Amino acid sequence: MMNRPKTNLGVTIGKLRLANPIICASGTFGFGEELRGFVDFGSVGAIATKTITLEPRAGNPPPRIFETECGVINSVGLENPGVDKFISEKLKAMREIDTKFIISVGGGSIFEYSKIVQRLDETKDVDAIEVNLSCPNIKNKKIVSQDKKETYKVVKALRKVTSKTLIAKITPEVSDIVSVAVAAQDAGADALALVNTFFAMAINIETAKPYIGNIYGGYSGPAIKPMSLYRVWRVASVVKIPVIGGGGITDADAAIEFLLAGATAVSLGTVNLVYPNKAKEVLAGIIEYMRRKNIKDINKLRGSMNV
Ligand SMILES: Cc1cc2nc3c(=O)[nH]c(=O)nc-3n(C[C@H](O)[C@H](O)[C@H](O)COP(=O)(O)O)c2cc1C
Repeated sequence: MMNRPKTNLGVTIGKLRLANPIICASGTFGFGEELRGFVDFGSVGAIATKTITLEPRAGNPPPRIFETECGVINSVGLENPGVDKFISEKLKAMREIDTKFIISVGGGSIFEYSKIVQRLDETKDVDAIEVNLSCPNIKNKKIVSQDKKETYKVVKALRKVTSKTLIAKITPEVSDIVSVAVAAQDAGADALALVNTFFAMAINIETAKPYIGNIYGGYSGPAIKPMSLYRVWRVASVVKIPVIGGGGITDADAAIEFLLAGATAVSLGTVNLVYPNKAKEVLAGIIEYMRRKNIKDINKLRGSMNV
């Protein structure tokens, strides 16, 4: 009997080789180790950690999460232990999990971004760095990726201090996302991650108070999928570097749409808050689709939307 040829699921993001294209999105999967026992890590190509900053951050006032009909508004405000504690306390436990780790970093200035990236560059257990240029929840701070010149400046500075895979995560809240993506690419990013959340709010009409402590937050989940997909397609059609596409993916069909639109890998975010083992089901669905369509290599699926 002839052996059925194996399906290749491996993808490459800069220097990072992932066993499959599924990435658990920053802020929705902790540091991975908290989910031991709940997750089949063999189905997770990589975990993007909660965004880490130079100093510890307490985050924003509660309530930080509000669930709407088709999504979630969050305003966590980058609560995290700071880079030193992350390296001394978290990394070791993370390394016992057999997947790749993308460390998400945030900062209030080029100085802060550079310091933290430098620190991670010296740390051997770090597979890749995702620079969060798109957090909507830091009061009085502009979102870097709303400005293509700022995006270029930050990524250029970070490219000088790390040779590790550098991923720029950009906001959908901009009129021309392609120009921002191109700026990040030109400054030396190895890959792009999009989208982060959309600005959103909700008001309790009885108390007349906003449901989110910080008044507004970032919107994610199934409601944003068509908008995310459009932006991923626009960007992936132009840039030469890999795009990690996501925003609203809840099942295999949605993940396949992002791959067809040109994403090299897909990110699962909000869905993890409800089903932390969703990657397993999504990966099984992708494999089933590839078999049904007789696609042997996931890289052949990328950008193959029929137009
Ligand atoms: C509770 C929560 C916390 C998040 N924290 C971060 C974060 O720290 N850094 C980041 O880059 N994105 C963060 N995000 C955004 C997600 O990584 C993702 O880009 C976004 O939610 C869209 O994808 P989704 O619809 O699959 O969730 C957070 C999202 C949620 C829901």
